[in-house]
Amino acid sequence: LHVAVLMGGWSSERPVSLMSGEGVAKALESKGHKVTRIDMDRDVALRLAEARPDVVFNALHGAPGEDGTVQGMMDLMGLTYTHSGLATSVIAIDKELTKQALVPHGIPMPGGRIVESAEIFERDPLPRPYVLKPVNEGSSVGVAIVTAEGNYGSPIGRETEGPWQHFDRLLAEPYIRGLELTTAVIGDRALLVTELKPKSGFYDFDSKYTDGMTQHICPAEIPDEITAACKDLALRAHQLLGCKGTSRSDFRWDDTQGVEGLFLLEVNTQPGMTPLSLVPEQARACGMEYPDLVEAIIAEALE
Ligand code: DAL
Ligand code: MG
Repeated sequence: LHVAVLMGGWSSERPVSLMSGEGVAKALESKGHKVTRIDMDRDVALRLAEARPDVVFNALHGAPGEDGTVQGMMDLMGLTYTHSGLATSVIAIDKELTKQALVPHGIPMPGGRIVESAEIFERDPLPRPYVLKPVNEGSSVGVAIVTAEGNYGSPIGRETEGPWQHFDRLLAEPYIRGLELTTAVIGDRALLVTELKPKSGFYDFDSKYTDGMTQHICPAEIPDEITAACKDLALRAHQLLGCKGTSRSDFRWDDTQGVEGLFLLEVNTQPGMTPLSLVPEQARACGMEYPDLVEAIIAEALE
């Protein structure tokens, strides 16, 4: 096959996407496929039209590669591409829209609300501890946990470093104590549950992409009931949103509350494919090596 690997772009997750894309490109070459690497710039449509690939592997993270924009462009161009389509991407990139789509179907997600950044300088939008995050970023870019002790000063100040300096609107959610869990879905199968144990206590950007900063326990040493619930919720979320290829659902579990303490945080439609990434790790634990995973995602796109 001739595969165009679309990577890079200009989101805050550009460096992650370049690592994902290079991993995918090398894996495809190892399988004898012809690969065209496309570091996305504003001429992306021209580059894709010139390359005329059999299929595009979308290795982008963040907008506009994960929010439906690039998907819509490829739909218009008649290109076959991996991962989710336009409508799914528009909803899944937005953590608030995702809630509106999934909570009515009984998927447990944290409460909370959208706040204007200016509002949080006046008063806490929720009782502490709570989380402030941009609605549509990935890799924990711009996420702050506001604790009772006041990590960020009390009250939060305009001068204090935090997401309120970079985003006008933020999602405020109650902070769920306990464990960080994640489950990959490939095709119609939820793979495993991984527990992420960041050494810093906060699974932020550095903890995600610096080797050794987070321990991955795969499969997670949690009760069977919680493993089953994560897999069931990840698969249902994938299907309800209409995801394709692969997705990864992230959870928090308050281990003092049994299954009632399990909450889905978000569904990632363009999950990381770097060597440290979680979907490849779960696939490997299930006996699927990285190049086979890449080919399986492509196979679903070509169906
Ligand atoms: N947003 C990053 C790439 C992930 O979900 O893995
Ligand atoms: Mg994400």
